[in-house]
Amino acid sequence: MQIHSSIADLRSALKGRGRVVFVPTMGNLHAGHISLMEQARTHGDTVVASIFVNRLQFGPNEDFDKYPRTFQADCDKLTAAGVDVLFAPTETDLYPEPQEYVVEPPAIQNILDGEFRPGHFRGVATVVLKLFNIVQPQAAVFGKKDYQQLMVIRNMTRQLALPITIVGGETVRADDGLALSSRNGYLSATERAEAPRLYRLLNEIRDAIRNGESDTAKLEQNAMADLASAGWKTDYVAVRQQSDLSVPNGVNTPLVVLAASRLGNTRLIDNIEV
Ligand code: PAF
Repeated sequence: MQIHSSIADLRSALKGRGRVVFVPTMGNLHAGHISLMEQARTHGDTVVASIFVNRLQFGPNEDFDKYPRTFQADCDKLTAAGVDVLFAPTETDLYPEPQEYVVEPPAIQNILDGEFRPGHFRGVATVVLKLFNIVQPQAAVFGKKDYQQLMVIRNMTRQLALPITIVGGETVRADDGLALSSRNGYLSATERAEAPRLYRLLNEIRDAIRNGESDTAKLEQNAMADLASAGWKTDYVAVRQQSDLSVPNGVNTPLVVLAASRLGNTRLIDNIEV
């Protein structure tokens, strides 16, 4: 696997490479990321991954400083997964001057995760557009675990007419259902044993809706009460329309249940399509 940190070196390495498929990450790779790399392989000739912990998408009280950086282990995993090129810029490589031109997503950036992480989706959209401009892929793969992020990127790509196919990768879970996430590493043993509750509750809501329950607000409240009684601090449990993450309007349309909740100091997110 070739590794490049400078934009110029990466660009010359990618000249004449055929169809490039890109998987951006923040590193600390787990089986969920590796499944995105494998999916990428089926969409093109050259798989390019990136590792960059993007300061712009972290709030002032979030975990930018303690976000796990495991570069050598990540390189080993990417090599084993057959990734061709890794772009691993430093902050100076990617942001040689303050990033004053940004992508300002529309109202979707202020709901759900955006309500609790102001500026997060601006930071994500800005770095993803910049990475797209650097890598110039024909396709890019993003995990469905970050459902709202995937939607912001899909919408940005469509509205700005970027010639890139956005592919959504299925969430990979531990045997007990917990969605794999770099932040799972923050959990204590007791918290790790408790963590699958989130996915269990999402499943219960999905089953209830499939069985005809239409009072989605009640389902959300019951799940939040269950989480609270087990010591979680919940930002949201929300049943939304898959198309635009708006509140269901009673018309029969595909739904998704999304949740973000904090176990101790660790904020976990997950979702399930109905
Ligand atoms: O999902 C992530 O890891 C990040 O948000 C991304 C897409 C790499 C942008 O920094």
